Amino acid sequence: MDKYYTIITYGCQMNVHESEKIAGILRARGYIESNDETKSDIIVFNTCCIRENAENHAYGNIGALKKLKKNKKDLIIAVGGCMTQQADAADKLRKKFPFVDIVFGTHNLDRFGDLLDKKLSGKKAVVDIWPQEGSIVEEDYSYRTSYPNAWVNIMYGCNNFCSYCIVPYVRGRERSRQPGAILSEVNALLDKGYKEITLLGQNVNSYGYDTNGICTFPQLLSKICERKEKFRLRFMTSNPKDFGEELIRVIAENPQICNLVHLPVQAGSDRILKLMNRKYTASEYLQKLQLLRKYVPDCQVTTDIMVGFPTETEEDFADTLSLVKNAGFFTAFTFVYSPRIGTKAAQMEGQISEEVKKERIMRLVEVVNAQTREKSLSYRGKSVEILCEDYDEKKKLYLGRDEYGRMGYFQSENDCIGQFVKIMVSDSSGVSLMGELEK
Ligand code: SAH
Ligand code: SF4
Ligand code: F3S
Repeated sequence: MDKYYTIITYGCQMNVHESEKIAGILRARGYIESNDETKSDIIVFNTCCIRENAENHAYGNIGALKKLKKNKKDLIIAVGGCMTQQADAADKLRKKFPFVDIVFGTHNLDRFGDLLDKKLSGKKAVVDIWPQEGSIVEEDYSYRTSYPNAWVNIMYGCNNFCSYCIVPYVRGRERSRQPGAILSEVNALLDKGYKEITLLGQNVNSYGYDTNGICTFPQLLSKICERKEKFRLRFMTSNPKDFGEELIRVIAENPQICNLVHLPVQAGSDRILKLMNRKYTASEYLQKLQLLRKYVPDCQVTTDIMVGFPTETEEDFADTLSLVKNAGFFTAFTFVYSPRIGTKAAQMEGQISEEVKKERIMRLVEVVNAQTREKSLSYRGKSVEILCEDYDEKKKLYLGRDEYGRMGYFQSENDCIGQFVKIMVSDSSGVSLMGELEK
């Protein structure tokens, strides 16, 4: 009889990719993907805890399975990811949801298969949270569903301890993969016809710092770009403190590297940046953008910004607004600060009220949206190269992204998934582009 799995993923791109690894492990054991939870034999939650709402979301959805589990005793429910790595989270989870069968963390993903075997061999519940230094997975056993795009982890963990952030506590210290293993994985993907590779790490610029710099991040990019066929190379995330001239030069020299950099600024006030432990000032950040634009004139920059960090005054917030106005971001992801237990910022005095946070985020979003709209309008009447990635059955249109990640829709008589095509943009009033296929 067929066995089915469902994976529910929260959080960042890294989690999305790690769910592909979990899927790979399940498929190797004969499971088939199903989007229908009631049909599934195993449901895996790959959780996130970056903000409180991410956690609440997961807790709500796990709780909702109680009834299903009651009616289907053989159903296996597994909870993994960042949430389970927090102090006491595994205990809390087991107490709140005693029907959960497997609790696993972020450090031991490669052991998920063993945990499942243990459970299947009759163990009541399996909990395997690994507080020590995590492992490095060099082997690619992912089940990828995002052709022609592929994610490749180049490092795990984070050493930066930005004072608001839970990631270093739940993902451990920085561990870089071997350059040779990364290159083989990327080359194998390109050989299979993948056209876009996104390298993942919490701070890709510090790739290789923990392995005595045998290969730095710019060197890794250069090596990947020795493949001369047409493909796109992206990476995320860059921490501004380590974003330097060598990397900028490599971006400029290699046409495969997309001229889009995600460079989270977080705030525009130097006082707040210091309290955040970000290790750069607003003007240093803007200087880096200037340097980037000097070498790569058509480069676009996206960012993350947070409002309501402890002690943030109206003046600090005004600094953030003015930085946004000066920086000319392509788009910005905006967040309300959410205190995370165990982080420095959660213990700081001067926590900002929900009311003030709400009011500030609305003002920030307004400024960001106006900028994004302006960037959108500049697309009109332009010819844009799209990497076609899917077909929308409802709209009867093909879709894909441009170099800057902007979604474009178009009509085509031929299946062009996995191909680079050019479209003439006729409408760009919304968040996506609409265009005619150029022959
Ligand atoms: N490693 C990346 C970011 C990972 S988290 C980097 O250094 O930029 C993605 C974004 O979530 C962060 O850039 C930050 O803006 C936001 N974030 C992190 N912790 C947060 C918190 N406690 N409250 C609100 N937003 C947070
Ligand atoms: Fe969090 Fe800072 Fe590390 Fe990014 S660099 S994951 S924001 S601690
Ligand atoms: Fe990603 Fe959330 Fe963990 S943003 S690293 S899944 S806390």
